[in-house]
Amino acid sequence: MNKTASVSETTYNNSALIFRGEIPEGKVGWQSPSNIALVKYWGKKEVQIPCNPSVSFTLNESYTETVVEYRPAHSGKSTVVFYLNGVINEQFGKKIDAYFKSIESVYPFLNQLDFTIHSTNTFPHSAGIASSASGMSALALCLCSIEKKYFGTPSGEHEFFQKASFLARLGSGSAARSLYGGLVSWGKIDGRPETSNLWGTPQTENLHPVFSTFRDSILIVDAKQKKVSSRVGHGLMKTNVYADARFKQAQTNIVELLDVMKNGDLERFINITESEALTLHAMMMTSNPYYLLMKPETLQIIERIFGFRKSTGIPVCFTLDAGPNIHLLYPEKVRADVGSFIQAELKQFTRNATVIEDRVGSGPVKLDL
Ligand code: PMV
Repeated sequence: MNKTASVSETTYNNSALIFRGEIPEGKVGWQSPSNIALVKYWGKKEVQIPCNPSVSFTLNESYTETVVEYRPAHSGKSTVVFYLNGVINEQFGKKIDAYFKSIESVYPFLNQLDFTIHSTNTFPHSAGIASSASGMSALALCLCSIEKKYFGTPSGEHEFFQKASFLARLGSGSAARSLYGGLVSWGKIDGRPETSNLWGTPQTENLHPVFSTFRDSILIVDAKQKKVSSRVGHGLMKTNVYADARFKQAQTNIVELLDVMKNGDLERFINITESEALTLHAMMMTSNPYYLLMKPETLQIIERIFGFRKSTGIPVCFTLDAGPNIHLLYPEKVRADVGSFIQAELKQFTRNATVIEDRVGSGPVKLDL
């Protein structure tokens, strides 16, 4: 029987991970990337189970570095102090404390420790890059490293990253995909027994080489905090009248996209990717209450991309996250042409001429402390 598919959620509820004695003082750190979804996760069930599978490119330049310092809890009760980019952040500290409590059945040793956590992002907060994906995956990797050090598990590399993905998912769904490089799916895909709703699965086997060269130029239209959080947006799918059709469409799209990404058909790749981006925003517009996250500049840029592609035949397309900023996706070989296009036509619609240059990356790296 397939090992990945046979592991159930309860496997990780492990009372064996109660440390007999005292875990001493120590520290551990990981660098972990953000990702950009091609087929979007939008709508979830308890606990962080997606209503449809998703797939994303792992990014290279947009990542979080997290160092977790731990020591025996001095008051007998665990505490968390959290620094974001060198500044203490009580709001995130509370969120992480709540996250640690929510995974106590997986890691009973967490309540034996005090934590000081230092996290830095290479990209600005709320720039349309998922900081929860990189941040939660980096933190989950640190927890797995603590387990490995004091309990000897998870045993192999596969088990280690799978458990980290499982834990990252419980913090932020899309974070489940940040544990591997290249192309990564999360959620059960029809006809693919190796995939799971509980953790991400790398999809790099037989991937057409053009996709490992893909670039993502992130055009910042508006860097303000979004008006409606993803948590609220996922929740609104429960009453969206188009939800069931959307979940079915995502299954069809992901099966076709994974095929297309093996055979290198860029025309189909562009069609599915752009349709997914617009469908995500269509779901927001057809929720109740309805809302819009795109800005007039977002539409201006999209129109220009359509025009440029039509007149030049250059395979460049867009995707959107839950926000107004454009992720411009294209193969490395057309970089010079797309660079001139951004300068000449797109930059005028960005906020303070901000374009973040990224590309497909190779996944997390353990920090040498
Ligand atoms: O991981 P969350 O709960 O922040 O949801 C993110 C959902 C999207 O970014 C809009 C799409 C995706 O699949 O990443």
